[in-house]
Amino acid sequence: MKAFALAHPNIALVKYWGKRDFAYNLPGAGSLSLTLGGLSTRTCVEFDAALDADSLQLDGKAVESGGKLKRVSQFLDLVRERAGISQHARVISENDFPTGAGLASSASGFAALALAATTAAGLELSATELSILARRGSGSAARSLFGGYVEMNDGVYAIGEDGTKVATRSAEEASKAAYARQIAPAAHWDLRCVIAVTSAGEKDIGSTEGMVSTQNTSPYYEQWIASVPGDIERAAAAVAARDFAALAEVAEASCLRMHASAMGADPGIIYWNATTVALIHAVRKARAGGLPVFFTIDAGPQVKVFCPAEALDECRALLAGTQGVRQILEAHPGEGARLCGDFVSDAAAAKDVAGD
Ligand code: PMV
Repeated sequence: MKAFALAHPNIALVKYWGKRDFAYNLPGAGSLSLTLGGLSTRTCVEFDAALDADSLQLDGKAVESGGKLKRVSQFLDLVRERAGISQHARVISENDFPTGAGLASSASGFAALALAATTAAGLELSATELSILARRGSGSAARSLFGGYVEMNDGVYAIGEDGTKVATRSAEEASKAAYARQIAPAAHWDLRCVIAVTSAGEKDIGSTEGMVSTQNTSPYYEQWIASVPGDIERAAAAVAARDFAALAEVAEASCLRMHASAMGADPGIIYWNATTVALIHAVRKARAGGLPVFFTIDAGPQVKVFCPAEALDECRALLAGTQGVRQILEAHPGEGARLCGDFVSDAAAAKDVAGD
């Protein structure tokens, strides 16, 4: 009843921003990402009949109550329901990168949790089933199950096509076919991702809150969603052909369109700070000068800059030379989520959380 799993975060090259079903966490459109080796979440799940509630330890600290514990517990309910068990679980999770600052810790977190929890519960799910399950925890987590270049489907029902109201769909229908799959392995193309941390700490507006506000109030939301399928097609073709210039163009466009839709909300959502904007200009200027680099930005102020492996030193120097950059992290194409060995070095700390 105990298992350990490791997963990497991923960064979307074509963004996911908006849901067509909140209950089942179905995305409003597809997305395309790269799984990032070099940054990892390790999670241990142990179901234990002696526990009277789920417990969570995140990065060495007990999470006693609040949204994070509730989200993990609700996710474990899905696993318990599927496995036909009722035991509560002890969850210990560690990131080797900053949590909650726009570095996709929810993606690696729920991917690792899905694999560890289902294994601990005795379930053997296919990669597709795990992806569908991880999606319930966090949309982007569905992609972190897979290594390399990954495409997420929006499901069989395109917006406006199914004619069925969300509330009247059966659970099975509602979660039909919204899962991710690998489109190229990590070894296909050695792109590097250099992450400029421009602000420490948790972001102000979480991704779900930002999406709700965007889709409820932004006049640009529908246009944003309509633009995604074409961007996925262009990005997938650029990945297949290892065409850096084409990928740069579509990834920056997708990022800026996503942020434009959020900025159009009421009140407008601005995830960027002054350093974010300075980096956008620095990257574009460097690219115009011949350095193969492009940026992307998620629901936070950090800037992720992609480059081919041979341009890594120059790319790092570009970011380090921009005022306001506090920390630089590096990642490379990574593998999918997998089971791993015991990482909980401080067994005593783990016992404290369990309260025994
Ligand atoms: O999966 P969530 O709910 O954390 O949303 C992720 C949203 C973005 O990171 C901004 C875009 C993406 O596709 O990862």
